Amino acid sequence: MNEEIEQIRQQALSELEQAGDADSIRALSVKYLGRKGRVTGFLRNISELPADQRPAAGKRANEIKRELESAFNAALNRLSGQKEEEKQAIDVSLPGRQAPLGTMHPITRVTRLISRVFERMGFGIAEGPEVESDYYNFEALNIPKNHPARDMQDTFYVSDNVVLRTHTSPIQVRYMESRQPPVRVIAPGKVFRCDSDLTHTPMFHQVEGLVVDEKVSFGDLKGTLTAFVHQVFDRHTSLRFRPSFFPFTEPSAEVDIQCVICRGSGCKVCSDTGWLEVLGCGMVHPAVFENVGYDTNRYSGFAFGMGVERIAMLKYGINDIRMFFENDIRFLRQF
Ligand code: FA5
Ligand code: MG
Repeated sequence: MNEEIEQIRQQALSELEQAGDADSIRALSVKYLGRKGRVTGFLRNISELPADQRPAAGKRANEIKRELESAFNAALNRLSGQKEEEKQAIDVSLPGRQAPLGTMHPITRVTRLISRVFERMGFGIAEGPEVESDYYNFEALNIPKNHPARDMQDTFYVSDNVVLRTHTSPIQVRYMESRQPPVRVIAPGKVFRCDSDLTHTPMFHQVEGLVVDEKVSFGDLKGTLTAFVHQVFDRHTSLRFRPSFFPFTEPSAEVDIQCVICRGSGCKVCSDTGWLEVLGCGMVHPAVFENVGYDTNRYSGFAFGMGVERIAMLKYGINDIRMFFENDIRFLRQF
């Protein structure tokens, strides 16, 4: 008979060892010590033992009952103690961890610098959509369908009549459509072309500029852009106006700035020319004015579109345009 209670004890202890959570420990407690539990049952049946065995068996069974009670309780306490410890693993008295703070992207910085310089000259700021209709991106700018000038820019087409804008010039048209002269505005934004090398990326940034009033001349264009370059770089920076062609300006020019990487002696960034093209410009073509309903006898104007990455490359001496978009933190931290 003593063997039976010892067996019950063994079994209870080994099952307890397997029990991993509070619920299964409580279930064991019911199984062995509950009203219909095995230890309880043993004690109830002691009266059926021969009289001389009863005292020893009863004593042993009660010992085991207490032993199991405290083993179950201890196991439960250990579990909830672990939880307490986990909670205390957060030491609120430690100094806080600093959240890493970003810096402004160099392109954002340069865009803001450009905007500030033009704002000081009295320009307002306009915006337009990045997904643009063929009409605003090309037709209204005097670039009809099938015109060879479309090949000047490799276009991403969304559908037959919708493109990712290839330049910020469509904002000129949108702006003039809804206002009468005088106009003096710049329009910064992202543009897209199927193009990639040391000085070209498929997405880049331009800042468009537009001035329309009575008696605006090419001299005003040169003066404005020269003042701009001297403020963004310094008064000794050389720039040159090179005759060029755009369907929406006449006459047209491109402006180059002396390459700051090689100081004009020639390198791979300036293709050994000593100069880097930063913008296109010219006098607004009368066909564009007609498309927006401006009186071409009364008004004249100039426009320009500059590459923000190119200006940033020259300003910071960066020799590969792709660095701006690789998200290398070591590069970005320098600004
Ligand atoms: C134009 O985009 C004309 N819309 C500019 C213009 C505006 C002319 C108003 C007249 C009147 P162009 O394609 O040359 O022109 O681009 C203008 C500038 O954007 C370039 O001088 C260059 O600085 C920059 N650029 C052009 N393509 C890329 C490219 N893939 N990656 C980076 N910069 C570019
Ligand atoms: Mg060009």
